[in-house]
Amino acid sequence: MSVSYTAVGWNRAKKAYDATIASGLVVYVALFCGVGFAAHPNATIETLLIRALATASFLMLHVILSIGPLCRLSPRFLPLLYNRRHLGVTLFLVALAHAVFAIVQFHALGNVNPLVSLLTSGTGFQTFGAAALCILFFMAATSHDFWLATLSPRAWKTLHMGVYFAYALIVLHVALGALHAESYPVLGIATGAGMASLLTLHVFAAFHERAGDRDAARLNDGWIDAGPVSDIQDGRARVVCAEERIAVFRYEGKISAVSDVCRHQNGPLGEGRVIDGCITCPWHGYQYLPGNGRSPAPFTEKVPTFDVRVVDGRVYVNPEAHEPGTPVQPAHV
Ligand code: HEM
Ligand code: FES
Repeated sequence: MSVSYTAVGWNRAKKAYDATIASGLVVYVALFCGVGFAAHPNATIETLLIRALATASFLMLHVILSIGPLCRLSPRFLPLLYNRRHLGVTLFLVALAHAVFAIVQFHALGNVNPLVSLLTSGTGFQTFGAAALCILFFMAATSHDFWLATLSPRAWKTLHMGVYFAYALIVLHVALGALHAESYPVLGIATGAGMASLLTLHVFAAFHERAGDRDAARLNDGWIDAGPVSDIQDGRARVVCAEERIAVFRYEGKISAVSDVCRHQNGPLGEGRVIDGCITCPWHGYQYLPGNGRSPAPFTEKVPTFDVRVVDGRVYVNPEAHEPGTPVQPAHV
């Protein structure tokens, strides 16, 4: 959360997250090279490193693309989401190391500039890898909260959806390059299994969200029936879907409704809790006051608010959003 941009300090959770990524990477590369040498004693260390770094970055990309849908399916995965950007930046660095080794190995020994050789040597599959690397660089470079605040969360999120394009380019890079030359089916099977599991996860997550969305029924005056008050746990929300998702919170004997979309990275506020009187985003902990959708001072984030009423033990929400940060009278339970 920010009054204006301030750097976020390193905390224990971040250090543990980064240490896990770094040690996982070292173990993976060592195992890959060890098993590679055992299976192919004539292989050079350069070739094994190129392949170890390539498969490590491809695997990391699968993990990154799985975290979003997994968190939509179950809050148990939220610790993975916290600092997912560190994983993204590491992915870029590992892919960069793979690319540098590959360029040195395959393009630096002739009399043509290695980058010119990369683009003109007729190895088109490497051009797909280079394009993917550019996208990963762009995303890593803009991953910091400074860019999030400068570009606006919506623009930032749209930009970072480019990761799916990068994924498609890498699949082409692998399919037209290594898979083409590969005499073992392992890489082909792993790539196919990776694509299938990502697709399945995304489809499941979409159905899961849709199932929640279908509950909302409209009254004649356009208000939405958000169901019985007793169905909403104290300090928790029920999410209803209109033009946008609305999180209807019950807290301290009151009901208030705000947009479900967090100002930080569009996290699902309705899956969060009311902590210390504030709606707390489950992704990175941004907070908002339920009565006006504003972050507590000195923070300045605001989300849209909605009118609510309680009639005969049921909650009704007016789906017409107020301007972000507009105070709205809570309904009493
Ligand atoms: C300038 C950018 C890149 C260049 C020049 C490049 C070059 C290469 C080359 C020459 C190979 C074949 C290696 C071999 O068969 O021994 C390869 C394979 C591969 N690359 Fe790249 N690459 C680039 C970017 C990327 C990126 C961004 C990723 C993923 C994040 C990636 C993932 C892979 C994978 C998964 C393989 C297959 C590894 C294997 O054979 O086991 N590459 N790349
Ligand atoms: S999305 Fe990061 S705190 Fe809400």
